Amino acid sequence: MSLSTVDIQALKDTHRRTWASGDYARIAELVTDVGERVVERAGVRRGSEVLDVAAGTGNASIPAARAGARVTATDLTPELFTTGRRRASEAGVEIEWLAADAEDLPFEAERFDYVVSSLGVQFAPRHEVVAGELVRVCRSGGTIALGNWAADGYIGRFWTIMGPYLPPPPDYASPPANWGRADHVERLFADYPVEVTSERCVLEFDAASPAAFIDTLADYYGPLLQARNKLTASGRWDALRGELIALSNDMNAAGDDHFRAPSEYLVTLARKRK
Ligand SMILES: C[S@@+](CC[C@H](N)C(=O)[O-])C[C@H]1O[C@@H](n2cnc3c(N)ncnc32)[C@H](O)[C@@H]1O
Repeated sequence: MSLSTVDIQALKDTHRRTWASGDYARIAELVTDVGERVVERAGVRRGSEVLDVAAGTGNASIPAARAGARVTATDLTPELFTTGRRRASEAGVEIEWLAADAEDLPFEAERFDYVVSSLGVQFAPRHEVVAGELVRVCRSGGTIALGNWAADGYIGRFWTIMGPYLPPPPDYASPPANWGRADHVERLFADYPVEVTSERCVLEFDAASPAAFIDTLADYYGPLLQARNKLTASGRWDALRGELIALSNDMNAAGDDHFRAPSEYLVTLARKRK
């Protein structure tokens, strides 16, 4: 194993532990619309084969299965599948769940009619590697459909604020927000036989107040929970929390006694030529 392979594996282990911490399932309930929209824009057909990459608890897998597709849900963090399986059973659908890294999908070329991901692929560090894998496992004539938080939307700005509080990422890792920029996504797919289109969409977060929303994320959303743990120890959590609440106040469309913030995301369709 080369040193860089060891490094990358260590980073993935950290990512897996991060996403397994807190209770992502509670956050997933806030963003179900994104998975629904990705599946709807993909135009998933009955009887087709669908791969959901970074599926989490199934926000794209479940609507795809409801549309009558055979769905394989994959994620780096199989701890999330317990909730995914329960949700699928409640929805009355069958899904196959498999631990897999978006950068190294364990499938033969051209296996799937649709390759979808809802707020997922943007968290894998090497964007070029992921784009290559998505195209490889999608059949000619098939569709890749992705929803990613926009770099300049509420969550994109949230990450910009978090950046300086966190250890710098390794130099081979690209920022997650770049998958939310149409020009970056076009560049990622430029060398492949795909037609790429992107559309900006909006999800609204709703909570009792900006502070209540940030505190909920810090309790359940692994990346912010881990940041809170580290920054509390170094005495910097109050500063980050304050900045995130200030951003949330800035974006608040609800007035003083409630929180409602539009958060933009990019839906990208990459249709693979026959
Ligand atoms: C914000 S969650 C989205 C989950 C789900 N798609 C949804 O819509 O709720 C991000 C997901 O990316 C997964 N993830 C992070 N890095 C990954 C990687 N390299 N390969 C596969 N999944 C990864 C995490 O485990 C987590 O489930």
